[in-house]
Amino acid sequence: MFTPSSPLPPAPLQPLHFDWLQAAGVQAAILRLDLVDPLITGNKWFKLKHHLAAAERAGARGVISLGGAHSNHLHALAAAGKRFGFATVGLVRGHAVETPTVLDLQAFGMELHWLGYAGYRARHDADFWVPWRERYPHLLPVPEGGGGLNGAVGCAEIVEQARSQLGNLRWGDYDAWWLACGTGTTLAGLVLAEAGQHEVIGAMAVPEGHGVEGNVEDILASFASKLAPTGAASLSKSSTVAQRDQQPLNATLPASCKPQGYRLLDASRGGFAKTDAALLDFIARHGAESGIPLEPLYTGKALLALHEEVISGRIANGTRLIFLHTGGLQGKRTFESAREYR
Ligand SMILES: Cc1ncc(COP(=O)(O)O)c(C=O)c1O
Repeated sequence: MFTPSSPLPPAPLQPLHFDWLQAAGVQAAILRLDLVDPLITGNKWFKLKHHLAAAERAGARGVISLGGAHSNHLHALAAAGKRFGFATVGLVRGHAVETPTVLDLQAFGMELHWLGYAGYRARHDADFWVPWRERYPHLLPVPEGGGGLNGAVGCAEIVEQARSQLGNLRWGDYDAWWLACGTGTTLAGLVLAEAGQHEVIGAMAVPEGHGVEGNVEDILASFASKLAPTGAASLSKSSTVAQRDQQPLNATLPASCKPQGYRLLDASRGGFAKTDAALLDFIARHGAESGIPLEPLYTGKALLALHEEVISGRIANGTRLIFLHTGGLQGKRTFESAREYR
């Protein structure tokens, strides 16, 4: 049993009232994914959902994945493992440190292996997973951040959560999404679900050229290729957990989905996890004014990037935006040492 028997509660869609939005005639609402669960929070449940379903289908006993010493992904995965009773192993960047996140991972029962920095950089090598698969043949490897097509297909469900609540705002429709990107998986899910109906704007928490562009393209291309008839994959009982997961994803998205309708902009402010006084001040003021908790690596940077676009007049009067709160508040506990995040 890898997943809850009933779905997590829907994220509330709440109006955002900031004077700079009002002055520009821009309406915005925030989809509070940070409120869906105290631990499996933000975009994490959506990203993990199909990975966990794949693990269950493959008869795995658990999941092995990667992240940093403040990783929101490992935190949610370890919490899910503890709650639903499956094994979790975390391959962690760097050398052993006791961050609040790491202490939680251990308390949730995740087995940790510290890979160092060079060891962690090798995660993209073709043979990276070989020794881990040999060591943990009954665990399903899940990519960093719960990414890939499985992650994106889960995130596609976010769109319906917002659409079903438009009436509460007295909105007949909306123009675009605005969200933070780390790997681009969440954005790719929204793009797939929107199929070009509404633009999806990704505020990158990493600088341009750090992989988001390629990840999004890969996911969209992979989705397109999985729709092509491949013949049913027959799953041999003797195959490994990872091989058994290679069956075509039974995608829940319409076949008409076309990869289009998104734009990426650099919101990293000089680098992933780099913070500065203007950002921290913006977050503190906007958090206090709205009552919405913000963290400085993803949602805070995305909101500041939106603010910059709005005050510079690049968003037309009358635009209606849905801003996504992707969670990550657990990581806020140690953002002073923010370079280690993710
Ligand atoms: C809190 C939070 N928000 C946003 C993101 C970005 O999501 P994605 O990697 O799907 O672009 C992440 C993870 O990378 C995250 O932890």
